[in-house]
Amino acid sequence: MISIEHVSKSFGPVVALNDVSLHIERSERVAFVGSNGSGKTTLMRAILGLLRVQGHVTIGGVDVAEHPERALRSVAYIPQISPPLDAPVREVVTAFARLRGLRGESVAEHCTRIGLDLAVVSRTRFRDLSGGMKQKLLAAMALATHAEVLVCDEPTANLDAAARTAFFQLLDERQKGSVVVLCSHRVEEVRQLVDRVVELRDGAVERDATLAELLVDLRAFKVEVVLHEPAQAAELFLRAHGFVTAGPGRLQATFTQDEKMSVVARLLRDHKEAISDLSVYQTDELASAVPPAHDKPELRVVR
Ligand SMILES: Nc1ncnc2c1ncn2[C@@H]1O[C@H](COP(=O)(O)OP(=O)(O)OP(=O)(O)O)[C@@H](O)[C@H]1O
Ligand SMILES: [Mg+2]
Repeated sequence: MISIEHVSKSFGPVVALNDVSLHIERSERVAFVGSNGSGKTTLMRAILGLLRVQGHVTIGGVDVAEHPERALRSVAYIPQISPPLDAPVREVVTAFARLRGLRGESVAEHCTRIGLDLAVVSRTRFRDLSGGMKQKLLAAMALATHAEVLVCDEPTANLDAAARTAFFQLLDERQKGSVVVLCSHRVEEVRQLVDRVVELRDGAVERDATLAELLVDLRAFKVEVVLHEPAQAAELFLRAHGFVTAGPGRLQATFTQDEKMSVVARLLRDHKEAISDLSVYQTDELASAVPPAHDKPELRVVR
């Protein structure tokens, strides 16, 4: 459906995209994740034909640079930064509805679902809406098109909890076979929404995995260690690996599966005599999220 072939883009000395190739099939829900400046927005803008790039992007087999109107007919976009429109909201909605061949009420209905009362803000200049209201309106307009491809750049960044839930619900209701491409800094933000995660780093694809694969790798484990006194070398080792005090003589840290294996193996190899108690707990969280309270120990070594 969407084909990105060797796409590169530089802004002066900054390489924003570096030879990115990706294929997104019909029905796929894909998230681009990565830190600030990793190239997520630039890649979305390349997909939408808003940037001149090296390489090729096609949607439904049509090249977006050569035939933008035809390629983008089935695409809706929720941008990260709202356009600073002076027009009142009702004019923006009317113009958008006319352009996309929609009933104005359809946008209003989607606004209501997402928690924005269009009647209340209809005379307000678009640019004077709050950040969250702008995002709600842009999301409602994009969803109302029922476009086959929905591209959203950090769509829930400014939404309150209720609006976020409503947005997730509306995405879920989209017809089978439609494509969603969205981006976020955090996997936690998108785990309910997508089934594939493309991680960007410095403009290149660092990793392209199913959500299930990624969640296994990011599963968080809490490691708790109680040391005999004195155990300076062991404590230094633990603190150097991010452990913090969790009680008298007790240190604790959270790791991914791989990190956990490596730290525990080295701890047992080099500091076994200093350990009075070692517990590893699997948590429900991802390692990149704030660690929660833990469940039953997965492994317990008591000496
Ligand atoms: N129009 C532009 N002019 C100059 N540099 C740009 C432009 N757009 C993006 N860049 C640069 O390209 C790089 C990638 O930017 P991009 O906006 O794609 O990152 P991002 O992953 O979306 O980041 P964020 O998470 O902050 O939204 C950054 O170094 C940015 O400064
Ligand atoms: Mg961005």
